[in-house]
Amino acid sequence: MASTSHGVAAVLSHVKGSDFLSSSDFTSEQTSALLELAVQLKNGTRRIDLGNRVLGLIFTKASTRTRVSFQVAMARLGGQTVDLNPQVTQLGRGEPLEDTARVLSRFCDALAIRTYEQRELIDYADWATIPVINALTDLEHPCQALADFMTIQETFGRLKGVTLAYIGDGNNVANSLMICGALLGVNVRIGCPEGFEPSESVVDKARDLAISGAKIDITNNPMQAVRGVQAIYTDVWASMGQEQEQELREKAFQGFCMDKTFLDEADSQAIVLHCLPAHRGEEISSELIESNASRVFDQAENRLHAQQALLAALLGGL
Ligand code: CP
Ligand code: NVA
Repeated sequence: MASTSHGVAAVLSHVKGSDFLSSSDFTSEQTSALLELAVQLKNGTRRIDLGNRVLGLIFTKASTRTRVSFQVAMARLGGQTVDLNPQVTQLGRGEPLEDTARVLSRFCDALAIRTYEQRELIDYADWATIPVINALTDLEHPCQALADFMTIQETFGRLKGVTLAYIGDGNNVANSLMICGALLGVNVRIGCPEGFEPSESVVDKARDLAISGAKIDITNNPMQAVRGVQAIYTDVWASMGQEQEQELREKAFQGFCMDKTFLDEADSQAIVLHCLPAHRGEEISSELIESNASRVFDQAENRLHAQQALLAALLGGL
């Protein structure tokens, strides 16, 4: 692990100019260094001025945390963001992605994109000549995972050997947790209803990338998933774009509402995580979000620090 500012900068110098489309785009060492930089930015031992760089935000789905944390992160780095929502640009009137990506590359220094298909994100990255960041797709939410593991690290002072249980849908958040967890040596257990498991290719990828013997386990028994773990985590049952499946999912996910009985089954020091927005009384009880074990608002805050570190690394400001 890179333990000095110099070490962190040396490790992260290799990601300058890269895209961050998946948690697997960074190595274990780079992911650890990024979290270390995020902690330095959070505690004020590190300040970075990128000198008026501009991040373009293309969000075709709603967002509170991701959008605002990117805006504030750029402001703190001495830069700014521009809103490039499809509704207000020619994208919404059918201008081809390949033209848009090349034009925006002449104005901006990086793009953060929230959309449905991972393929669309990859197409942007292929045509853009600036770093492209995944701000959530149907496949992954890699910026979220950085903040999540930063929160676990700051609670327990370590990541290797820690076990995280994610209860619910094998979705974008679960996918990035498995991959990023594997890279950091965290055991990740997914407890999901039958038919809502994460895709095998992502599970295999996470297992291939795992360091320090980290295990990735999938089970349909949620209580078994949380037994003895240090962190329990959940997310909505119907993600953005799946609204029409809400009713079907409410039936399929019976028994998967993360409540006090789940926390009681976990380690006595276990913490509660949720990427937010939460549907209280659905995938998580209000009691759990408000409990002493809850770290959900630290987790939300850490989006800012983790993304500030990410932007500094991709834009080469170290
Ligand atoms: N967790 C998260 O990505 O929140 P937003 O949808 O509000 O950005
Ligand atoms: N899985 C959720 C995460 C929201 C931050 C979604 O994609 O809607």
